[in-house]
Amino acid sequence: MNSPVMQGLPIQAPAHVKNAKLIAWVADMAALCKPKDIYWCDGSQEEYDRLCQLLVDAGTFKKLDTAKRPNSFLAWSDPSDVARVEDRTYICSQHKEDAGPTNNWMAPAEMRKTLQPLFDGCMKGRTMYVVPFSMGPLGSPIAHIGIELSDSPYVAVNMKIMTRMGKGVYDVLGVDGEFVPCVHTVGAPLEDGQKDTTSWPCNKTKYIVHYPETREIWSYGSGYGGNALLGKKCFALRIASTMGRDQGWLAEHMLILGVTNPQGKKYHVAAAFPSACGKTNFAMLIPPAGFDGWKVTTIGDDIAWVKPGADGKLRAINPEAGYFGVAPGTNTLTNPNCMASLDRDVIFTNVALTDDNDVWWEGMGDAPAHAIDWQGKDWTPAIAKETGAKAAHPNARFTVAAANNPALDEAWDDPAGVVIDAFIFGGRRSTTVPLVTEARSWTEGVYMAATMGSETTAAAFGQQGVVRRDPFAMLPFMGYNMSDYFQHWLNLGKKLEATGAKLPAIFTTNWFRKGEDGKFVWPGYGENMRVLKWMIDRIEGQAAGDEHVFGISPKYNELNWTGLDFTAEQFKSVTSIDKAAWLAELKLHDELFTQLAYHLPAELTATKAQIEQRLTA
Ligand code: OXD
Ligand code: MN
Repeated sequence: MNSPVMQGLPIQAPAHVKNAKLIAWVADMAALCKPKDIYWCDGSQEEYDRLCQLLVDAGTFKKLDTAKRPNSFLAWSDPSDVARVEDRTYICSQHKEDAGPTNNWMAPAEMRKTLQPLFDGCMKGRTMYVVPFSMGPLGSPIAHIGIELSDSPYVAVNMKIMTRMGKGVYDVLGVDGEFVPCVHTVGAPLEDGQKDTTSWPCNKTKYIVHYPETREIWSYGSGYGGNALLGKKCFALRIASTMGRDQGWLAEHMLILGVTNPQGKKYHVAAAFPSACGKTNFAMLIPPAGFDGWKVTTIGDDIAWVKPGADGKLRAINPEAGYFGVAPGTNTLTNPNCMASLDRDVIFTNVALTDDNDVWWEGMGDAPAHAIDWQGKDWTPAIAKETGAKAAHPNARFTVAAANNPALDEAWDDPAGVVIDAFIFGGRRSTTVPLVTEARSWTEGVYMAATMGSETTAAAFGQQGVVRRDPFAMLPFMGYNMSDYFQHWLNLGKKLEATGAKLPAIFTTNWFRKGEDGKFVWPGYGENMRVLKWMIDRIEGQAAGDEHVFGISPKYNELNWTGLDFTAEQFKSVTSIDKAAWLAELKLHDELFTQLAYHLPAELTATKAQIEQRLTA
């Protein structure tokens, strides 16, 4: 239960918490943050229900209709706290070069000086929740442990869904196990007798801070998503990427799926796409007509931790246990498995509330005649037409356990992970980049991933529709110097090659090419299975493809077109290579390489020179 904090006195940890470093750290943080009490989460269902009720009583949660959406809740955030804040996210390594040119940097000592007064007393009047979590199956050799201290019960219940959270973590941690300490505060202390005047306390000032050398995360001022659920982007990508560099493994912004052919042979694919580019849809894909007997199953929808074995194979786990997905645009046509996952036990954030106490978002289906929008205002289709008001925020989310997914892979929780057969890097480009291309070598694949471009989306705070380079879809999530990360990938390839093992194939995709009418040409969603099948044919040596300057793309007749009317002409418009566009594209790669010049691997400049040569030959 909650134990009151008497400043300066040792804290009371439950008997099952035996890790001295952890207890000392919690005591230090309690002395700094000055919460009114400390609550040690046990991860039980009873605890989850109790905290959800507390959030209902505080007005943060609305309980949805128990028949339509059993055990589900809706939260509306403060309108200023709706997305990750990349401009407030810092990598505080000792040397600026180690954070690299793509990250905000401040020297650790200076950042600690900046944060000290902000954290001093930041949890006054609130409970400090101690949230023990494992990223990955408990005790897996690929998994790692974190402890998040947060003054937000919303964070505690979301972490229960998103991670393996609970008492069992302390057994793995033991008396001297390692954990990543994560401190989070909404930055809204309450003085004696003061009550919250808002159901979403937060602070205008925000800091999302990582100290890679000491593997610490400090988050101030936001209660939303990746800013606050520190297991996700902060730990599983930014801190874990540096752990991976130091220990010889990969922490990637990738979904993992299993694909089984009608003969029962199974393959595993890990795919990197920038935020809000349909990773959840691809991970839950339902094969279309013409693919009888094929099955796609989900291991993860956002993050992959990949470790090489002595056999030269790469094994991957999903470090998360739930999905924190973008709701708008999700419907029974675009992602039936996802919609089925959302039938019950869901926390929705920033979607609209319907008059029958259910949820709605743009792109879900027929609009209700009336709803309350994510800002608590009346919303009707007529108001939307007149003012452009959105019922749901474009970055509105659902939090749901992986166990709810009807397409969940049977090995999703396997501590050994799954062997990766292929990597996909998918950009979001309306022009230039073909539907799918296989790299001819590991180095060419790393080049493709390094130079990926993407038009920005709602998951990142900022302007939409602008093309930015998003190497490996990791731009907002890299915990160290991007060029060192490229080198790490190249080194890993060499290490795997040396074992004599077959390396995973590397592909780059672009589902988003537009025609002259400005419309997407490729139908996407389940139809992406046609491309996935071609990749497997390539792995099996059953498709020759057409070799071009950047790699190998399919011939029209190498894709199974049963059930889809897609002409050779349309195919050409999503696969053609325009020399002039590519010469211009290579200039942009130049700009990227100039920005990343420090430690940029020579192999990548050499690969670029080869492409240029082929283009102008
Ligand atoms: C996410 C993101 O929330 O990439 O997964 O922004
Ligand atoms: Mn993501």
